[in-house]
Amino acid sequence: MSYTHRVDRERRLICKAGLALGAVAVLPACGDGTTVAAACSSSSVGVGNAADVPLNGAMMHPTPQANVFVCHDANGFYAVDAGCTHLGCDVQLANAADLKQGFTCLCHGATYDANGEKPTSPAPAPLKHYLLCAQPSGALVVDVTQAGVESTVRLKV
Ligand code: FES
Repeated sequence: MSYTHRVDRERRLICKAGLALGAVAVLPACGDGTTVAAACSSSSVGVGNAADVPLNGAMMHPTPQANVFVCHDANGFYAVDAGCTHLGCDVQLANAADLKQGFTCLCHGATYDANGEKPTSPAPAPLKHYLLCAQPSGALVVDVTQAGVESTVRLKV
């Protein structure tokens, strides 16, 4: 079995296992649009409750490592680093009542879309996404040791 085939087979198995577990957190990877269960580490930090983040809203939470926006769109919840990728100022919601308007950085004017993507100058890169997990109570935790989560990943609560 070639490496590619082995990886594809393992990926499918992980996808099936993740779905069977009822995923408390999600990562992308199943090319068919499904998701994979992933666990937040013990160093995760509480970032409020899912019920506190309205649809098309976001709330910023300080953590020891970074300020993090917990965002809620029609597909679910996700966690975005508030640190602008230019020089690290915290971004803000462009419109506090509407996540769809994206983020803006008041330091030098960079903007990002609601997913933290499509950065405008002088920001060189999209905002980082972190792994977000939910506890049975609806409490959310973010694992900032797991950055680089794909921007399309959403946590269903
Ligand atoms: S730090 Fe955000 S635009 Fe410069």
